Amino acid sequence: MENTSPKRASWSGQLAFVLAAAASAIGLGNLWRFPYLAAQYGGGTFILVYVILVVTLGFTLMTTEIAIGRMTQQSQLTAYSKLHKGFGPLGLLATVIPVVIVPYYCVIGGWVLKYFWTYLAMVFDPSADPIADAGGFFGGFIGAPFAPFGYGLLFIFVCALVIALGVKHGIEKSNLVLMPLLFVMAIGIAAYVVCLPGSGDGIKYYLVPNMDALRGADGAFSPAQLAKTILGAMGQMFYSLSLAMGIMITYGSYMRKTDSIEKSVRRIEVFDTLIAIVAGMMIIPVVYMFAVKTGTPVHEAMNAGPGLMFVTLPKVFADFGRAGAFVGAVFFLLVAFAALTSAISLYEACVASVCDLLGMKRRNATFFMFFVIAFLSVFSALGFGVWGKLTPFGMDFLTFFDFVTNAVLMPIVAIVTCVFVGWVIKPKAIEEEILKGEKRFVARGLYNVMVKYVAPVLIGAVLISEICRNLGIGNWKI
Ligand code: PHE
Repeated sequence: MENTSPKRASWSGQLAFVLAAAASAIGLGNLWRFPYLAAQYGGGTFILVYVILVVTLGFTLMTTEIAIGRMTQQSQLTAYSKLHKGFGPLGLLATVIPVVIVPYYCVIGGWVLKYFWTYLAMVFDPSADPIADAGGFFGGFIGAPFAPFGYGLLFIFVCALVIALGVKHGIEKSNLVLMPLLFVMAIGIAAYVVCLPGSGDGIKYYLVPNMDALRGADGAFSPAQLAKTILGAMGQMFYSLSLAMGIMITYGSYMRKTDSIEKSVRRIEVFDTLIAIVAGMMIIPVVYMFAVKTGTPVHEAMNAGPGLMFVTLPKVFADFGRAGAFVGAVFFLLVAFAALTSAISLYEACVASVCDLLGMKRRNATFFMFFVIAFLSVFSALGFGVWGKLTPFGMDFLTFFDFVTNAVLMPIVAIVTCVFVGWVIKPKAIEEEILKGEKRFVARGLYNVMVKYVAPVLIGAVLISEICRNLGIGNWKI
């Protein structure tokens, strides 16, 4: 703890930090969103574009956030104003994002818990199969008057327990158990899928670059399709690496000065991308096989949105016979762990902000945020049932919160952060922080160009395309 202020918590080492940041990054985005985007955008083509973006743009943003956190020893709410008085509102904006996301993320976490319980019950009593009509089960559950809120509340409560225990004793310890289990389960299911007879075509569909995805309706190469692929990959990258919402600032503020930021970021990227690719191996080949078997167009099956995880996959599991209940239980336990560690990081970013601003004790701040999050979760939990008629901008509450944060607020925070670092405090300040734990900043040249010029322009493009897509302007279907 030599270089941190005496009161501030810290990770016990570089590995603990990498694991915590990876635990935040690996979540629903990897397990559910990445596979279907990859399938839609030409498999290997999308994966390639995604990886290039992660090691350039993702690297730049993550390095920036971690360095700001470690430099200021503050969470996002107060970090920006500590560096420059005029940028206080940016901290406030960056804090609003996790406060809006964590309630709906926990509601989805609650759905996952429900599926896990149901599959677990089926393992013990195979005669009961409530999920057989997968669509009806899903619609019935999320539209129920109380259950989605109850399960969401349970999920929030578990996060609160971990956070109340603190950075070292709560977050770090829980990651040490959950993350290795998550890796083992993911690799286990992917291996099971690869060994299924007939999975080869689906694996090819997923991994081999398919240039057809870059052709327009007339069959010729379409720059617009390429742009959509890049923008889709970029949006996914932001979400998947937990960027632009202050989490990495908060987690960076617990990092020891002697640890290497650059190496840590590279490792987090590897973990996050690896799990995303493995998730595709768990899901795409079986959905492909199922689509072929039932005569559904493959593209349509992949394109099911949230239904892919909660409706299509259960149908596939049902098709496995007795093994299906077991695979389903392991799969949803894995998803629950991934969602839990991500939700913990979101919750922590809120709690740390309250502590830093008001000087509140961790336990009290956790308790206070529990009520705020539980209250806000009511909207997303009931938005498919009793409050189904309330549709801001034509969206249900959950989709609306997701849109406001991912499509609007996060890109704005990311652009202003880049301008702030590139032109106000200057990249040199970040470099100096990096050099405290490192002899050399290897990617210095790349970093400078990205943060000053490339990142603001690219993120600006994401902002515009996301708004158009969500409001149905133009032909943006990502
Ligand atoms: N990165 C997480 C994922 O891939 C999502 C997440 C979003 C986590 C926001 C924290 C905050 O699912």
